[in-house]
Amino acid sequence: MAGIIVVGAQWGDEGKGKVVDVFSAHADLVVRYQGGANAGHTLVVNGVKTVLHLVPSGILHAKTMCMIAAGVVLDLEEVIKEIRDLKEAGVLTNPEQLKISDQCTALLSYHRKIDAAREAKAGLEKIGTTGRGIGPAYEDRASRKAILFGDLFDRERLRAKLEASLDEKNFMLTHYYKQEPVEVEPLYQRMLEMAAELEPYRSRDTSLLIHRALKSGKKVLFEGAQGTMLDLLHGTYPFVTSSSTLSGSACVGSGIGPSLMQKIVGITKAYTTRVGSGPFPTELDNELGDRLRREGGEFGATTGRPRRCGWLDLVALKYAIRVNGITSLALMKLDVLSGHERIDVCTAYRLDGQEIKELPVNSSDLSRVEPVYKSLAGWSDDLRNVRSIQDLPQAARDLIQFVASEVATPIDVVSVGPGREQTLWIKPLFS
Ligand code: IMP
Repeated sequence: MAGIIVVGAQWGDEGKGKVVDVFSAHADLVVRYQGGANAGHTLVVNGVKTVLHLVPSGILHAKTMCMIAAGVVLDLEEVIKEIRDLKEAGVLTNPEQLKISDQCTALLSYHRKIDAAREAKAGLEKIGTTGRGIGPAYEDRASRKAILFGDLFDRERLRAKLEASLDEKNFMLTHYYKQEPVEVEPLYQRMLEMAAELEPYRSRDTSLLIHRALKSGKKVLFEGAQGTMLDLLHGTYPFVTSSSTLSGSACVGSGIGPSLMQKIVGITKAYTTRVGSGPFPTELDNELGDRLRREGGEFGATTGRPRRCGWLDLVALKYAIRVNGITSLALMKLDVLSGHERIDVCTAYRLDGQEIKELPVNSSDLSRVEPVYKSLAGWSDDLRNVRSIQDLPQAARDLIQFVASEVATPIDVVSVGPGREQTLWIKPLFS
């Protein structure tokens, strides 16, 4: 039994896609369990870039099966586009490689429309969502009005649910947001077309398939989306996404009990980024931040927005380790820190004149903290061609050692570039 959960330990964009792609070479099955097309998982193989929003990052390995489980809000148009692009690139030649749960929440054009209208109306209070309709789709699920992926294959039920849903949504769109309504008939017809195209990928019960795989000793990776600090309950609320991004969500979103999980790998960059609004204690709103953004290519894979950048925050990382039960870490983008004379790492916060080592869970407190830094020596060498930990400059190894010991968690993997070959293993994933 080897269920391994991969979670973002920061504000998303940590490099989960790359890690899952690399780990997938050794996995039988990769499962996406929460979030939706707000995620942008970038894979670079032999210099060719693939950006995935919904399809699990194991898809480039022909022998690795991929599943989209119940916890995902499935943007139907987006998943179709992604499947077509993959097929065009010669990937996903066999539909058996990808299975989509009947229990997924269908995300439709009106969810995106409400998301955008709500943000536009919010003014200064806006969350800075990706505009992908994530909040409105999860609202439908929670209020038990969602159209599920499985509903697409029952014409009568689909029409009845769509009519009921649009009745309410159109009232909100026209009266409250002053937008054009969404017509039932064209959307219904489009959904039937999409159902036909997606039918080969349909699975009535992905939970059962995943369970069987785990019980028969298969290696299963659970691929998280977004990051710990964007968790709906334990992130920087209200500046969060609408799903639970924590490791526990892998169990809930895929219908697998926690006792079948073996490891939880937390992914963190060697610095920090955040997209959208909300507190970010180590943000560098200056030339240094611009430099990290430039050298790290820190622009959103989904929206293209420039990411806010800052130093690594070990208070937030320790929090992520605690709330996820992280058993080991992958430290990403270490190469981006090359050329800095000094590298700061936040080890504590100062709040109301007191030094604290635990993250304040209240967002307004978190927005008032001042970071306390430990300054470490930098290095000038380009790390992108380094292929083993031993070949890293001493200062880079010292940084790795410092982080691991401060957060009392082993770092098993270090990444020095987007390519698969730029992955340095300290300890193999599957023993
Ligand atoms: P939503 O998930 O589109 O509703 O956006 C809510 C917040 O989460 C915004 O601050 C987004 O920028 C952020 N967010 C959502 N998905 C991602 C992601 O994959 N990476 C980084 N930030 C994200």
